[in-house]
Amino acid sequence: MKRVVLLGPPGVGKGTQAGFISEKYNMLHISTGDIFRANIKEGTPLGKTAKEYMEKGLLVPDELVCDLVEDRLTWDDCKDGYLLDGFPRTVFQAEHFDAWLKSRGEELSVVLDIQADNEALIFRATGRRVCPACGKPYHIAVMPPAKEGICDYCGAKLIQRADDAEETVRKRLQVYQDQTSPLIEYYTGTGKIAEVDGMKTPEEVFEQICALLGE
Ligand code: AP5
Repeated sequence: MKRVVLLGPPGVGKGTQAGFISEKYNMLHISTGDIFRANIKEGTPLGKTAKEYMEKGLLVPDELVCDLVEDRLTWDDCKDGYLLDGFPRTVFQAEHFDAWLKSRGEELSVVLDIQADNEALIFRATGRRVCPACGKPYHIAVMPPAKEGICDYCGAKLIQRADDAEETVRKRLQVYQDQTSPLIEYYTGTGKIAEVDGMKTPEEVFEQICALLGE
């Protein structure tokens, strides 16, 4: 049973690798970004609040995110472990989450820290297209669908995320640098972190992750 965190800057491939990992290891994938986007689509009060921050490339307030995730992790489908994509994202969230885990007698298995350089991140995020129906991510140059603009899996028309405009991507990278990158030091202190070179192809990145997670 594994509790895994995927850490890394916007566009590094967390969602792509989460798809591979959850398929191979049969792990539940929980993405805070996906939860917020689903709420925005449904027009819920949470979605309305999240949208104000996300469209500016800013983080959603810590308390709101912690309550949301920690509640989600009490659901029955999480009892055999999970893969967190996009949480924690600040030292506040990590400390809150650690205290929450401890109160339940639980701990994380590993934090996979995927890194790539800024130029690659901007190229990846601005070229990303996603399926609005099944959530599968593509890239117009690196991982294109078989038929341009159409999801290979469900046939829906692919869209570009509102926060993938270049200016917003640059803002998200700055926010990552200021608020999320201190987590590397935080988790180094807990001895739970493992580095993954995100500059390789998606398949090579996945090989590194498999070597870390084992069979
Ligand atoms: P979220 O949805 O989590 O976005 P993110 O962390 O910015 O990450 P991305 O989804 O942009 O990228 P990714 O690393 O998943 O890359 P992907 O696999 O898609 O969060 C969005 C927003 O929600 C935040 O800005 C914030 O406002 C809010 N939020 C979420 N969690 C929060 C929290 N905990 N606290 C506060 N606010 C929160 O890949 C990107 C592209 O690259 C794709 O096109 C893919 O095909 C391609 N690609 C993938 N791997 C490779 C590779 N190895 N080589 C070449 N191309 C590749």
